[in-house]
Amino acid sequence: MQPWHSDNPALTNAFAPVFDERDDADLPVDGTLPPCLSGVFMRNGPNPQFEPGPGYTYPYDGTGMVHAVYLDGGQARYRNRWVLTQELQEERQAGRRIYNPTFGPPPQANLANTNVMRHAGKIYALYEGGCPYEMDVSLSTVGPDTFRGKLAGALSAHPKVDPASGEMLAINYDLMSGTLEYLRMDASGQVDRQVQFASPWPALVHDIGLTATHVVAFVCPLVFDFSRGPAAPAWEPQRGTRVLLVPRDCTAPSQIRWIETDPFFNWHVANAHVDGDVIEAVMPWHDGLGSGPHKRLELHRLRIDIASGRVQDEVVDDQPCEFGRVNDAWLGKRTRYCYAGLRDPRPGETPQPGAFESFARYDLDTGAKSVYRLPAGQTAGEPVFAADPASTAECDGYILSFVHAENDPGGRFIVLDARDLAAGPVAQVRLPRRVPVGLHGSWLPSSRSAPGNQARR
Ligand SMILES: [Fe+2]
Repeated sequence: MQPWHSDNPALTNAFAPVFDERDDADLPVDGTLPPCLSGVFMRNGPNPQFEPGPGYTYPYDGTGMVHAVYLDGGQARYRNRWVLTQELQEERQAGRRIYNPTFGPPPQANLANTNVMRHAGKIYALYEGGCPYEMDVSLSTVGPDTFRGKLAGALSAHPKVDPASGEMLAINYDLMSGTLEYLRMDASGQVDRQVQFASPWPALVHDIGLTATHVVAFVCPLVFDFSRGPAAPAWEPQRGTRVLLVPRDCTAPSQIRWIETDPFFNWHVANAHVDGDVIEAVMPWHDGLGSGPHKRLELHRLRIDIASGRVQDEVVDDQPCEFGRVNDAWLGKRTRYCYAGLRDPRPGETPQPGAFESFARYDLDTGAKSVYRLPAGQTAGEPVFAADPASTAECDGYILSFVHAENDPGGRFIVLDARDLAAGPVAQVRLPRRVPVGLHGSWLPSSRSAPGNQARR
């Protein structure tokens, strides 16, 4: 792969792409990797192979690259591969960039760069502007998956899997037509619900909350109009935010409920649950996005009363945070703990999107917050929870993430004990070279890996 350099801030320093696809075994470890962790941590993120055209922005652009750390018996192995999309194959054949950034003129590519997760035995690289790409556990790209032709457009980059039923649920969106789609897939991978309906306006619905009865999502007043070119998304707070409630068994748009509330923006929902008539959702909450003097990014808890249509909004923490996660075995149920990346810069440090100076664990029962602050010059990505397989307690597990260190050509993969985040990493794997700032990922325990348990190879 031919390296190149760009002065675009979204392509420099911690965001600069890497150009090699590596396999490195028996990596040095500071501390001790928990022997109970056997499987693979995968994380996706933008990593353009060919120098992009003007207007490249983070996090909207760049073909996905998945970075993986395989853990077994206290040892670690690293591998990274581009998601070999059809568009990337075309560009490789041409030896140059063909596709334009998201807010540039057509054509645009399926970038497969936002998330990586597993459902019904398949691993997917996800991108909310196109269909998912199936990958195998060794990071080879199997190909695009339209769920036997049922997926006409894009799949959300944040479907959620109900740990109780094994169902995968998603709200998909199309900014051009202004339509939304509720999609449910059963535990065997068959689509069994697919309902299209109109959005109040063309907007991102990036993530959902999953409850025992409903999927909850938010149509925020970041309004998209591509006739405005790079200014396509505009913050129009006078519209307010609409709470979207879709019954999980929904078969028709008439069953869908909308509730108006005060304007806010959210990328993500850490978790949600239902208690009687009230749906509670915990999420990083923005007072706006895009144009305008937006200042507040906080962890909020929304209580949505289905019967009365009232929405109660509570600030859990006013320190800026993002990428909230919980123990995935508790998705859709009431969770006591939530983990997030914290904006926690030291004097002179400039916060970067998707890169956090600290991790926080919130006790949603007591309001207590415990924090691990990375050493100066280091930032980490999303905190992914890896459960201790010997325990069913919500809090028993580890927080996994990649760390980027300034002026260090090597990368790090850190493991923290979720029960004592403030104690710092129990293990730090030294990677052979840096891993750029990226987006979302998953811990895939080997007991449920693909046949042959290739995670061990
Ligand atoms: Fe996201």
